Amino acid sequence: MVPHNGQHRLWEKFSEAPYSGGNPWKWLLITASILSCWSQPTSAQGLTVVPEPANVKEGDNVTLVVQGFSGTTLSYAWFSRSPGDSSDTQMVMYSVIYSMQTPANIRQKVLPNGSLLIPNLVLNDTKYYTVQMVDTFGKILRGGAPLTVYEKLAKPMIAVNDTNILEDESLILTCSTENVGANIGWFFNDQPLSLHGRMSTFKNNQILLIKGVKREDAGSYQCEAWNPAHAKRSDALTLTVSSSESPERSNGATLSGGAIMGVVIGVLAGVALLGALIYVLITKNTGR
Ligand SMILES: *[C@@H]1O[C@H](CO)[C@@H](O)[C@H](O)[C@H]1NC(C)=O
Ligand SMILES: *[C@@H]1O[C@H](CO)[C@@H](O)[C@H](O)[C@H]1NC(C)=O
Repeated sequence: MVPHNGQHRLWEKFSEAPYSGGNPWKWLLITASILSCWSQPTSAQGLTVVPEPANVKEGDNVTLVVQGFSGTTLSYAWFSRSPGDSSDTQMVMYSVIYSMQTPANIRQKVLPNGSLLIPNLVLNDTKYYTVQMVDTFGKILRGGAPLTVYEKLAKPMIAVNDTNILEDESLILTCSTENVGANIGWFFNDQPLSLHGRMSTFKNNQILLIKGVKREDAGSYQCEAWNPAHAKRSDALTLTVSSSESPERSNGATLSGGAIMGVVIGVLAGVALLGALIYVLITKNTGR
């Protein structure tokens, strides 16, 4: 958790630019730096850094709250390290005596108690942050924490591959999101969907397959894109399931009882009519 840089290296950075000569703070820092040499290395520890709120997305504000410190402080310095970087970069310093941070014109603001406010977060603020404090005895305290800034999510889209759903058929529900890093979850009638035996998911939950659909699967479906910072739900898609034995489907291979009855009556009527016709013709021909 402690940065790789040795204390000495941090101090080089700490006391170099951007301070011009003649700034009384520079002398304070140099004094503190010299004093710190006598008390190192075991004292360079002990601070806890806690991001508040714990999970943040693009556009949010975060405060990196410094805990575990009581006493009089001369200065705070904040460092950051991007993923993949081998060393820390100094971001900002704060003089308690002058209540002033340097550089002043940056988004990040050091608060009087040493905590760091980062407003209007961007994805590139995903870094490891380290704070270093010097107290009036020249003792150095240090601590750090990683910060992850999550994507701001767009509303996902839900779709089904068939709108006329019959019992025992299979169907596919698809959830599309433009956020590559988002997790996908499913909701059924406003409750998190618990997959039953005929359901399975694919492609990181983006596809929900329902085999042998039953009437109990009818209802309102939604999908949700989420990350630890927030969640966005799709519109609701209402699934209706018709029975495959319903009479209105009698144009297919299966005929309902009523339809069969109708055909039989029709055939019988035809036969009776034909018989009557033949009788009339025969009696006419034999003539009188
Ligand atoms: C420091 O100040 C900020 C802003 O007022 C506050 O949120 C934070 O809790 C304070 N830190 C401590 C350790 O008291
Ligand atoms: C929808 O997908 C399921 C599963 O692959 C398939 O059995 C079914 O025929 C598809 N429906 C349509 C209308 O394509």
